[in-house]
Amino acid sequence: MRKPLIAGNWKMNKTVTESISLVKELVDFVKGYQETEIVICPPYTSLWVTKELIQDSNILLGAQNMYFQDEGAYTGEISASMLQNIGCHYVIVGHSERREYFHESSREVARKVCQALSFGIKPIICVGEKLEERESGTAKEVVKEEIEAIFEVLKSQDAVEVVFAYEPIWAIGTGKSATSQDANDMIKYIRNLLQQKYNEKIAEQIRILYGGSVKPENIKELMTESDIDGALVGGASLKALTFSRLVKFRE
Ligand code: PGA
Repeated sequence: MRKPLIAGNWKMNKTVTESISLVKELVDFVKGYQETEIVICPPYTSLWVTKELIQDSNILLGAQNMYFQDEGAYTGEISASMLQNIGCHYVIVGHSERREYFHESSREVARKVCQALSFGIKPIICVGEKLEERESGTAKEVVKEEIEAIFEVLKSQDAVEVVFAYEPIWAIGTGKSATSQDANDMIKYIRNLLQQKYNEKIAEQIRILYGGSVKPENIKELMTESDIDGALVGGASLKALTFSRLVKFRE
C-alpha cells in the first residue's frame, strides 16, 4: 500500500518570522497524526529554522528546487549536499513555474533528479500540460515527453525513491482544479508508463500526487480515486489550519 503524501509548496512566500509562526501552529495541529506523510517546502531562507522546529514532529522537510552541479561558481544556486546537510528529505524539481519562468528544460530536470537521488534526497518530479494542450487533446503527449526525459536517467533500483506530481498548469493557483476523474485518468496513464518502463511491482510502489488548486473542499474526492496518492499544495499550504485539514483528509 502506498502511504498518502501531502506536500506543501510555499513558493516565494513567508519571511523567517512568518515561517516560525506557521510551522509552530502546524506542528501542533498535526501532532501524532501518522496516516499521512507530511512534507513542507519552505523557501531556502526558512529551511534551517523550520528544520529546528519540526525536529521532534511528524513533519518532514523539503526544498523547492536545487541545482544539479556538486558545487562551484553558480551564483545564487543551492546544491544537493547543502539540502542534505540541512536535513531535507525531499526536493521539488521541474515545477511548471520553474520550467516557464526560468526556462528549465526536461533534461535539466532529469539531471536534478539524479543529483538529488545521489544525495539521498527524494525528488518530487512535477509534470503537467498547459490549457491549450489540454484543449487541443495533446495533454498526454506532453506529460509523456516530460516523463520520458526522466526515464532516460532513472534506473529501476532508484525508481521507487521518486514521487511524481501531476500538475495541470491551468489548475495551479487558479482555483480551478481538474476533476478528480480527469486527474486520476492522467495519473493512471503515468503509472502505466512506469509499468512499461520498469515493471508492475515498481509502478505500484511509486507515489503519484495531484497538484492544482487542492483545498479542503476537494481533497476527499480526489483521494477516493484509485491512483491519486496525495497532493502537492500551493496556496492552501500557507495557513496551518487549512493545510492540517488536507493532511487529515480522512477525518
Ligand atoms: P496551488 O499550487 O495549490 O496554489 O494551485 C500548486 C502547486 O503549484 O504546486
